[in-house]
Amino acid sequence: MTLLMKSLRIFANQCRNCTTKSTPSIEFTASTVNIDGRKFSRDKWTNVTPNILKHLNRNLHLKPGHPLCLLRENIISFMYKSFPNRAGNPIFSIYDRLDPIVTTKKNFDSLLIPDDHPSRKPSDCYYLNKDFILRGHTSAHQEELIASGLDSFVVMGDVYRRDEIDASHFPVFHQAEGVRLFAKHQIFDDEKQSAELFEDGKRTPLKQEYHTEITSKKLQHDLKTCLTKLVHHLFGTDVETRWTETYFPFTHPSFELEVKFQDKWLELLGCGVIEQQILYNAGVPDKVGWAFGLGLERIAMRLYEIPDIRLFWSNDTGFLSQFEGATPDKKIKYKAVSQYPQCFNDVSFWLPEGGINPSDLYEIVRGVGGDIVEQVRLVDEFVHPKNKKRSQCYRIIYRHMERTLNQAEVNEVHKRIEGQLTSELGVTIR
Ligand code: PHE
Repeated sequence: MTLLMKSLRIFANQCRNCTTKSTPSIEFTASTVNIDGRKFSRDKWTNVTPNILKHLNRNLHLKPGHPLCLLRENIISFMYKSFPNRAGNPIFSIYDRLDPIVTTKKNFDSLLIPDDHPSRKPSDCYYLNKDFILRGHTSAHQEELIASGLDSFVVMGDVYRRDEIDASHFPVFHQAEGVRLFAKHQIFDDEKQSAELFEDGKRTPLKQEYHTEITSKKLQHDLKTCLTKLVHHLFGTDVETRWTETYFPFTHPSFELEVKFQDKWLELLGCGVIEQQILYNAGVPDKVGWAFGLGLERIAMRLYEIPDIRLFWSNDTGFLSQFEGATPDKKIKYKAVSQYPQCFNDVSFWLPEGGINPSDLYEIVRGVGGDIVEQVRLVDEFVHPKNKKRSQCYRIIYRHMERTLNQAEVNEVHKRIEGQLTSELGVTIR
């Protein structure tokens, strides 16, 4: 396959309209799992459940105003700003719509993950069948993107792992993966031309057998500088960080970056020098590179002080409205909303001549409803085509901090609000 064809295939896989698709269509038959019209035959590996599959099209990282989307935008703006080419354009390209259903080849084999590696166990991931899986990490896309000719890219998306469920674990979360490749002249800028990228040497804790020591050192330095800057960009320069050594089948040497958070070290990301074998397999034997993968929820939970990972999946406007309309660089501290459920009622009315002032409306709603009113928002507005009268609809969201409200008592409060809006603002309830 030519390079161009390969990259076209990748673009075709980026589903352009996935921000608007909501619930995927899922059907389990005796022999297949059908997802949005694609059929996967079932075998003894199949362990996906309808409950997991329903997260497929949520794309929280693409949902405007969602904290994971703000974080995605923040990371992108850092990568764009920090890595311009000579013409001032960003060198990193972003892939945030790649299909999370990948082959097991991509998820494991392309990354040199051995057959007996624990991450392949069906108890740890979600198989559609022997050949297809819900990606367990964004690294699954490394090899195909490198093979398509890209040198610098970031992949962001939802990943799926079977795990415990508690305040910081959820079987679906989001990752950002960064990859940067270098040709010889980029590693050894204007230094002596005698320096070599490669040697036929020994693998040591410091380097792979293929790399000269200086190549490995330079890559590690560049990687660590980039990630330290990113963490400073996100958390501020006074955050304490430390590097620890670790192991991944697809990088060597490999590291984790931890940040001090409330007196505890918190692991933020994994990274390392890309195994040269992966670059050979992808058809770029003459380049070297680094990669990192970080968890978006982990960072967002610390950044916005979100106490429970399940909140990201909430459709509760008490959660979402705290991030709505924010810019990625805005400092937001999440304020806990009551754990009791919301109730909402709409109020629709014709406006009097001259309209109303929304703050008068808020005042009345608060005056009558008191603390059980959590939010008031304009949800609809239109002009009657004949008599030109304007109509508005406001949604009032009620929630008690200490108990579950019942609809009857909410209706009673709502009625009184309607009465006061009529008598004090001159609106006509529809
Ligand atoms: N894929 C690894 C994970 O999910 C993170 C990683 C990415 C590590 C890239 C090294 C290089 O844990």
